[in-house]
Amino acid sequence: MTITAPSPRATERIAAAMTVLMCRPTHFTVTYRINPWMDPDAPTDTDRAVAQWEQLRETYRGLGFAVREIAPIEGLPDMVFAANGGLVIDDVAYTASFHFPQRQPEGPAYGAWFEAAGLKVNRAQCVNEGEGDFLPIGDVILAGHGFRTDRASHREAARIFGREVVALELVRPEYYHLDTALTILDRRPGREHVAYLPGAFSEASLSELRLRFPDAIEVSEEDAAVFGLNAVSDGLHVITAAAATGFHAQLREHGYTPIGVDLTELLLGGGGVKCCTLELRSAVDQRSAVDQTGATGKES
Ligand code: ARG
Repeated sequence: MTITAPSPRATERIAAAMTVLMCRPTHFTVTYRINPWMDPDAPTDTDRAVAQWEQLRETYRGLGFAVREIAPIEGLPDMVFAANGGLVIDDVAYTASFHFPQRQPEGPAYGAWFEAAGLKVNRAQCVNEGEGDFLPIGDVILAGHGFRTDRASHREAARIFGREVVALELVRPEYYHLDTALTILDRRPGREHVAYLPGAFSEASLSELRLRFPDAIEVSEEDAAVFGLNAVSDGLHVITAAAATGFHAQLREHGYTPIGVDLTELLLGGGGVKCCTLELRSAVDQRSAVDQTGATGKES
């Protein structure tokens, strides 16, 4: 009999309850081009977008997520991409301030929703696209820049949330938001785990990622190109593009359960699973997630 040393991949995966905000793609179409995926001359099918989005919502409900919805606004075809609507941690919201004029009205629309939901709202002074570029993990916030979010907003977020913000430079126009190139798989402090596309980052940012996350999953160009990395993880289940099959296999190897969803219609707008999902991290959810790890001393 051979005794095998415990594999570092054997980390226990635990699902933590999530609350998310979504926006029905009632008005989704492609009328302008602000990323390389968008082609205003190519036809879109709004009914198909709605049907695919409903599948995603039902997937979340099936996993026990609480799904909240913001009313879609006519004339804002990208409003379905709720991740860009802001950043919420411990019931504190930092609003988005969009880079392109076409999306600017979405900032106040999401801000008003946060206010009505009783969150403590900080209105952005600096250009940022919410969770498109800000991804909290452990005690820090990973923050993309290069295409949409200004570096000045990284400092603004650090001040509002009192957390270290780790700047990551994006260099490929198809991966214009951090959440198209990197997925947070496990956010628990001390067990941080991510997946990313190495080629989407500058040399310096890639070194930073390799230093911080030595056991990260490096995803193939093929899986990234179907927006596999535009994914949502509850710590066990990873909801991602159905077509990202290589990534699914990597996830299984690391103890996760991949769940493939077809959002190809929304990919015509340059978005996927994560883009359609804004996480509402409440102080209460955070505490229960910490309890599940058995960690102590986090009570406040
Ligand atoms: N058409 C949208 C834009 O270019 C897509 C946003 C995708 N959202 C995201 N979180 N990556 O702004």
